[in-house]
Amino acid sequence: RSILVLNGPNLNLLGTRQPEVYGHTTLKMIEDLCVSHGASIGLRVECAQSNHEGVLIDAIHGARGTHDGIVLNAGAYTHTSIALMDAISSAELPVVEVHLSNIHAREAFRHKSYISAVAIGQICGFGAQSYVLALEALAAHLQEGGG
Ligand code: DQA
Repeated sequence: RSILVLNGPNLNLLGTRQPEVYGHTTLKMIEDLCVSHGASIGLRVECAQSNHEGVLIDAIHGARGTHDGIVLNAGAYTHTSIALMDAISSAELPVVEVHLSNIHAREAFRHKSYISAVAIGQICGFGAQSYVLALEALAAHLQEGGG
């Protein structure tokens, strides 16, 4: 099984970006964690990050046929992007939405997620561990025959 871990805008700055909210873990550390944890549960993990909405959409389109599922942290596009939501619907791949922070405990504008409407589920609030939990959830979903 092959999984794409896709990170959106500003997540390249993790480690130095508002560490009181997002922690000190860098994106590279999170990606390494995803690759090694994925391998331990039989998933081949590929990682990508972009600050550009269209590039994220292209990555989702590209995952169709090459990957079995996506772990997606869309950053602030979570709360704004109907285009990303539509890309996920078109890709017909299981997507687990992740956030480092608990978006429901933050500003009201972060409570709405366009991604949730088309994801199999959402994991938020556990920092870097959110990604590990998302991989576990995706592995179980695929194991159960979910597409
Ligand atoms: C985030 C939460 C979003 O509201 C924010 O815009 C981000 C990061 C998170 O991982 O907690 O960029 O997706």
